[in-house]
Amino acid sequence: MENIRNFVIISHIDHGKSTLADRFLELTETVPKNKMRPQYLDMMDLERERGITIKMQPVRMNYFFEGKEYVLNLIDTPGHVDFSYEVSRSLAAVEGAILLVDASKGIQAQTVANLEQAKAQKLKIVPVLNKIDLPQAQIEESAKEVSGLLEVEEKEILKISAKYGQGVKGLIEEVIKRVPPPRQDQERNKFLRALIFDLKYDPFKGVIAFVRIFGGEVGEGDKIYLLQNKISGKVKEVGYFRPHLLSEEKLEAGDIGYIATGIKESGKVRVGDTICLERFKSETMAFPGYKEPKPMIFASFYPKRPQDFDLLKEALAKIKLTDPSLTFEPEAKEGLGRGFRLGFLGNLHAEIISERIGREEKLEIVVSTPSVLYKIINKKGQEFLIKSAADWPDPAQIQESLEPWIELQVFTPPDFLGKVLELLDIFEAKKKTMDYLSRERVVLTYEAPLRTIITGFYDKLKGVSQGFASMNYRFLEYRKADLVKMEILIAGKKEEAFSKIVTKKDAQEEGKKTVKILKETLPSQLFAVALQAAVGGKIIARETIKAKRRDVIAPLYGGDYTRKKKLLERQKKGKKELKERGRLSIPSDVFFKVFKAQ
Ligand code: GTP
Repeated sequence: MENIRNFVIISHIDHGKSTLADRFLELTETVPKNKMRPQYLDMMDLERERGITIKMQPVRMNYFFEGKEYVLNLIDTPGHVDFSYEVSRSLAAVEGAILLVDASKGIQAQTVANLEQAKAQKLKIVPVLNKIDLPQAQIEESAKEVSGLLEVEEKEILKISAKYGQGVKGLIEEVIKRVPPPRQDQERNKFLRALIFDLKYDPFKGVIAFVRIFGGEVGEGDKIYLLQNKISGKVKEVGYFRPHLLSEEKLEAGDIGYIATGIKESGKVRVGDTICLERFKSETMAFPGYKEPKPMIFASFYPKRPQDFDLLKEALAKIKLTDPSLTFEPEAKEGLGRGFRLGFLGNLHAEIISERIGREEKLEIVVSTPSVLYKIINKKGQEFLIKSAADWPDPAQIQESLEPWIELQVFTPPDFLGKVLELLDIFEAKKKTMDYLSRERVVLTYEAPLRTIITGFYDKLKGVSQGFASMNYRFLEYRKADLVKMEILIAGKKEEAFSKIVTKKDAQEEGKKTVKILKETLPSQLFAVALQAAVGGKIIARETIKAKRRDVIAPLYGGDYTRKKKLLERQKKGKKELKERGRLSIPSDVFFKVFKAQ
């Protein structure tokens, strides 16, 4: 136990965590040279293609130092704010954190956010400046910033190049010296107590729990019990991450490893649960579990082929096992069929999930533009969360409508301050504070409606600051907003699937946008079709699809009488159908196109 060190690498996105992990794998000879590839711990193709870490990944390494062999359990974590639940779960399993700061960028929003989480877990922080090989690295200034933030002396900050390996050996040895050996339960030899920090499904072994053992030991054949979910299992296998799963005889207190639980139902095992031995279940104390993250934005996913609904349901359940921050529930829309309303931690999260469904599950889906969750208080004082425009009550019953606000933190070098302030104004953000973290860095704290921030704020911030500004946000509260339901009428009939909740001031623009898309996508009929957007019965935007008649019949010069007659008959039939059915039949791809843009 004295020779084990459990630690994570945390940083802002792209500051070099996965690259540093690569150097660790090489130095400790965990991965043979000929098998090594960049970003080794990013196991998904998607992560490697995009160069971002989405999933945490543990790995066990061995290292000789001062005559002793050490076990180093590292967990590589994602940097992007949308995957911060992965970070917080891994922090609970370790004693130390390497805080990596790109010396050419300095401290960024996510550096601070992750550091705060690590401090809350009382982890030993090892501060490191990375990318010192870059000509634009500002080593001294960055060291000053880090020493100020952490209240440590500058000489405690290590300086490395993860890319070229400079200083990496020294860093491993500092981790061994500075990070304490694993915490353990007092009566550690008596009972097994393991915290589940991640999960994976294996068709043969069932649910595989990634665990940190705090007490006792566990091996194949042990009867186990999950304290929160109250479910039993018989261990099929235990082992370590190398980083692939390598079976071992047993796991002991202090270890990070995996337990193949033998439980087949993936939905029954959750992260944050405590695994104990079945015979000691009444004597074992459960861990408090993880605070479930609240989804910030929502989008609807529909299968392109309606018959794929059940496959989509299975795919989402599978992905949820590896990504517990995802939420979903079924919904149905006329014209689109059955689908799901999904909740995400941010836009990138939504994008990644839709890509995973396509790649891992080979399903074709249509995705709506993400939106926030609105709230209504009716005249009786009851509160409702509005997940879909179809749930919007009659305006006469609405006392108040509200939308989520966030506290937004933007870090920027002073050179870009003017442009960043302009941008914040455009996105309706309101200033709270402006501080200088150092000469090189201004920290702006603003409050803003989440609705505006999810419409491309991040990309624009990167644009106006040449990539140097960064942001982080957290949910603040629901605030009053002037919200209305925008409805779409096609040939005079309301089409509920196209309805949308918008702010009163955006209604006209949204209405114009939707009728324009409809005009471009609806096939023209043999008669004119009116496309209208309305709020509270008042028309706010309109377009007309011209009748085909003139275009088709005009070139026929009266010669081809039968064709002309046929066309006229079809036109009559269409008009009659419209009268009888009361509405135009809309091809499903039109729904899909409008839906994607909403
Ligand atoms: P996320 O997990 O997505 O947050 O990224 P990360 O922190 O794991 O960063 P990653 O290791 O993917 O590195 C980001 C980029 O920085 C890559 O292009 C690396 O090659 C580069 N990089 C990492 N370390 C160094 C370094 O020491 N020097 C130089 N010049 N480039 C580096």
